[in-house]
Amino acid sequence: MAALLLFLLAAAAVASAHQFEVGDETGWIKPTGKERHSYNDWAAQNRFHIHDTLHFKYVKDSVMEVSSADYLTCNTSNPIAKFEDGSTVYELSRPGFFYFISGQPRHCKLGQRLIVRVIHPLQPDLPPASAPTGGDSGWPEFSSTAKLSVVPYFVAAFVALAVTFWFFL
Ligand SMILES: *[C@@H]1O[C@H](CO)[C@@H](O)[C@H](O)[C@H]1NC(C)=O
Repeated sequence: MAALLLFLLAAAAVASAHQFEVGDETGWIKPTGKERHSYNDWAAQNRFHIHDTLHFKYVKDSVMEVSSADYLTCNTSNPIAKFEDGSTVYELSRPGFFYFISGQPRHCKLGQRLIVRVIHPLQPDLPPASAPTGGDSGWPEFSSTAKLSVVPYFVAAFVALAVTFWFFL
């Protein structure tokens, strides 16, 4: 029964995979310095689950996934992954932290960097991803779009309940 419930939870999580627009309408840009919100503010307004995707939109720029150390120093010399196609869809394939920076160190230092924390599937009630900030100055402005997705858990719970009844009646 527990295995079935886990399966249903996993199925619900996959079915609800969500694509997030990084920076909303603003996209992935070098901050001008007039912004009120950082990319990490944007991340804090969202909840990221395994299999969700991040869509980075940018022009004459790039996006790199890097280590936490390289995130802090805007070091672009050892990226874990690098994308330059202008429209990158990145799948969050595991729980934990993901660090993204612009491939241009100067842009990164101005605040074009992002930490995303993917919540663990068995601990869905942790608070939204919050992230340390490191010497950030300028921030793009974003509209707030909290995309709380609890519906799949209710659906999974309901299905599990229905299956339980079906088993025992
Ligand atoms: C970036 O990291 C590499 C290797 O980790 C190091 O050799 C290099 O000096 C670093 N660059 C900067 C600008 O910190």
